[in-house]
Amino acid sequence: MVYRFFAVLFTLKLFFRTIIEDYIMKIRKTTESETRAILSIHSQAFGTVKGPEIAKLVSDLLGDETAFPLLSLVAVHKNKLIGHILFTKVEITGTEHPVAAQILAPLAILPEEQTRGVGQKLIHEGLRLLKESGTEVVFVLGHPTYYPRCGFIPAGEQGFEAPYPIPEEYAEAWMVQELVGSAIDKNSGKVRCSKVLDEPQHWRE
Ligand SMILES: CC(C)(COP(=O)(O)OP(=O)(O)OC[C@H]1O[C@@H](n2cnc3c(N)ncnc32)[C@H](O)[C@@H]1OP(=O)(O)O)[C@@H](O)C(=O)NCCC(=O)NCCS
Repeated sequence: MVYRFFAVLFTLKLFFRTIIEDYIMKIRKTTESETRAILSIHSQAFGTVKGPEIAKLVSDLLGDETAFPLLSLVAVHKNKLIGHILFTKVEITGTEHPVAAQILAPLAILPEEQTRGVGQKLIHEGLRLLKESGTEVVFVLGHPTYYPRCGFIPAGEQGFEAPYPIPEEYAEAWMVQELVGSAIDKNSGKVRCSKVLDEPQHWRE
C-alpha cells in the first residue's frame, strides 16, 4: 500500500515536471556544439540580406581571442534554441584607470518567437552575469527605442565615443549602461572593440 502511494506520487511529480519544463524558457551559457544552431538563429532573424553577414560575425567573434572574456547566452524552449545574445570585451581608451567594459552585439530571436519577451530576458540575464563577474559598463549600437527598455542610455552625450563616427541622425543608437554605480560619471573616452568587431563594415548602417 505504502509502496503504491509513493509510486503514484513519483509518477505525478514526473508528469507535472515535464509539463512545467515545457512551458518554462531557460537562459544559459552556450556550448561549442551549439554554434551551428546559433548561427542559424542569426541568419533567420536578420533575414536573407543581413543574415549571412551577421552569422559570419558571430562565428568570427566566437573565435576572436581579443574578444575574451566574452559571454554567449542562448534562450531554450522545449529543447529548442530560440534566441542568442553575445557580449564581447571592449577597451575604453583615454581613461585614467582601466574600466571593465563589454559590448552587446549581436542579439537575435527566431522570427516565430519574437515579441514574447525573449530578447529582454536575454539582455537582463546577460547584464546580471556580467555585473556578477565585475563588468562596469556595457555598450550597444542598436535600435534606440528597444534597448532603453533594458536601461541603456545614449552614450555619446555621456562622453563615450564609438570606434567609428556615428552619423548625427543615428546618434541615439549608440548606447551605454553602467552596472556599477557612477562608472559612467567617472569615465569617458573612445571605445575600442575586439579585432573582429573593430572592422568598419560592422559600424555602417
Ligand atoms: C530586436 C529583437 C532582438 C527583439 O527581441 P524580441 O524578443 O522580439 O523583443 P521583446 O519581446 O523583448 O520586446 C518586444 C517589444 O520590443 C519591440 N521591438 C521589437 N523589435 C524592435 C525593434 N527592432 N525596434 C524597436 N522596438 C522593437 C516590440 O515592438 C515590442 O514592443 P511592445 O512591448 O511595446 O509590444 C528581435 O525582434 C530580433 O531578433 N530582431 C531581428 C534581429 C535584430 O534586429 N536584432 C537586434 C539588432 S540591434
